[in-house]
Amino acid sequence: MKKAIYPGSFDPVTYGHLDIIRRAASIFDEITVSVLNNRGKSPLFSVSERVNILKEVTKDLPNVTVDSFDGLLVDHAIKSGADVVIRGLRAITDFEYELQLAQTNRKLCEKVDTVFLTTSLDYAYLSSSTVKEVASYGGDISKFVPQYVADQIYYKFKKGE
Ligand code: PNS
Repeated sequence: MKKAIYPGSFDPVTYGHLDIIRRAASIFDEITVSVLNNRGKSPLFSVSERVNILKEVTKDLPNVTVDSFDGLLVDHAIKSGADVVIRGLRAITDFEYELQLAQTNRKLCEKVDTVFLTTSLDYAYLSSSTVKEVASYGGDISKFVPQYVADQIYYKFKKGE
């Protein structure tokens, strides 16, 4: 049984993340999508909101579960029984940071390896930050996130008005 963990901020989850989750779920026996409780960032969605949104949009994938973590990723991976970390690479600009992260994690715990999946070209430009920016101006985000996620984002911005 090969279990992998897909960590991230997911504030909010986009079609780019979902593409990685689906593909990882077809490669590994079990995937845990783990939301980082980011210290120092002021996210649009709370950790529990992000977990609930991820659960909703991955409910058709039987081998995908969602949780959250605080602290070091490698500690959470070991606790979850995962020895592979999945990360998506959109472009060369992601590479340096991702390489540093993977190598640091490997130094911290050599049992945990990182597997990179290249983001589909359709979503290579996409980031949670740009989705939030477009939504904050009332723009159309239907090409970037599922309708369920779009509704939650617009609701947040409306509430903040
Ligand atoms: O979606 P993101 O913000 O690019 O995800 C970054 C994430 C969650 C993978 C990374 O920040 C992380 O693993 N944070 C937990 C702390 C940690 O273990 N850092 C690694 C050593 S620098």
